[in-house]
Amino acid sequence: MSVPDRGDLRVDGSRLHARIAALHEIAPISGPGGEPGNARLALTDADREGRDLVRAWMAELGLHVHVDGIGNVWGVRPGRSGRLDEPAVMTGSHIDTVGTGGRFDGNLGVLAGLEVVETLERHGVVTERPIAVAFFTNEEGARFAPDMMGSLVFVGGLALEEALDTTGIDGARVGAELARIGYAGATPCPGPSPCAFVELHVEQGPVLEAEGCTIGSVTGVQGISWQELTIVGQSNHAGTTPMRLRHDSGYVAAELAVFARRLALELGGSQVATVGTIELHPNLVNVVAASARVTIDLRNTDDGVLRTAEERLAEHARDLAAAEGVTITARRLARFEPVAFDPAMIALVERTAERLGHPVMRLPSGAGHDAQMLARVCPTAMIFTPSVGGISHNPAELTAPADLEAGADVLLQVLLELAGTDGGGGGERR
Ligand code: GLV
Ligand code: MN
Ligand code: MN
Repeated sequence: MSVPDRGDLRVDGSRLHARIAALHEIAPISGPGGEPGNARLALTDADREGRDLVRAWMAELGLHVHVDGIGNVWGVRPGRSGRLDEPAVMTGSHIDTVGTGGRFDGNLGVLAGLEVVETLERHGVVTERPIAVAFFTNEEGARFAPDMMGSLVFVGGLALEEALDTTGIDGARVGAELARIGYAGATPCPGPSPCAFVELHVEQGPVLEAEGCTIGSVTGVQGISWQELTIVGQSNHAGTTPMRLRHDSGYVAAELAVFARRLALELGGSQVATVGTIELHPNLVNVVAASARVTIDLRNTDDGVLRTAEERLAEHARDLAAAEGVTITARRLARFEPVAFDPAMIALVERTAERLGHPVMRLPSGAGHDAQMLARVCPTAMIFTPSVGGISHNPAELTAPADLEAGADVLLQVLLELAGTDGGGGGERR
């Protein structure tokens, strides 16, 4: 086999697309217009099926597969020494999805990592350092909070026991679900720190498309604040209860949602606010709601402004509770400060995209990612590819095939640079 120069290596797009399509076949859903999405909430049977498929691919590629106590899975391709205990250059992402997810969120980063390994295998490339491909448990946080749970445990930011004890929106416990699906692994947590981490991901926002860029070099991830507010008022008759005598949890929930949106607009900048859940009880047309559960997702690249948003919301909730005669209890679901990625790694992604001829720009990430956790323990970077129409967490999520390949090529070259080779394509393991 002729061995191309390291810098000329490219992934095989057809293999990458085939793996994306095969993973999409597990728990597929359709959007309103028939758009092809996925519902693989963390630690469900669907997640297990996805895990089994990706783990089988790892084994087929000859990777040494580890499963840790929180169900993170990574496969290691040894470097030149053949030893498995050397710090690896790690790539990866997640394969769980939100309940109305797309095919690419997370999946791209994992499957592109496998494609990089397959490219190296097929060309007989030996790297100095090991390369590892990971998928982390429960990145989405849609079933169990917080999000990025697996990568947070991997880096020692959350005790394993605490994570296993987490109860989800359906009352299930992480530990029990992990055991049930067969992914309570034996490898200890926290995991071995990689020497670097690189995550390829779809942007999930509109910036790259609007700027005509194929690649984004991600500067960092904005801060995330999730809380759940439980409002308890008094159930009563919708027709007979005068407005001034109501303790209406439904009204308070709606008022909080409106306030969160106005607050984000008033604070401006990168501040966003989302009320993604409002549940009323008993949820009947002619009954003043007795209680309500509201989730509020606040994010900002500036932690000071994010704290202001949290304080303003808490103050408003106190005022509302007093005025309506209800109680409001807040429970923290997630809180992560903004993260800045390593400047040299950001520059490496940018330089690599330029060398490959892909228009590139720097941008912060609006979404949370496993990379923001790995950044606690090693130099970290992210590569973004454009999302058509900026749509994500929606079956209509789409990235053009050529852009997926461009992202995977940049990933391949960045990993080669970080893992080191002798400059050519070949080499023997010792
Ligand atoms: C994860 O996808 C998040 O940013 O909510
Ligand atoms: Mn994701
Ligand atoms: Mn997501």
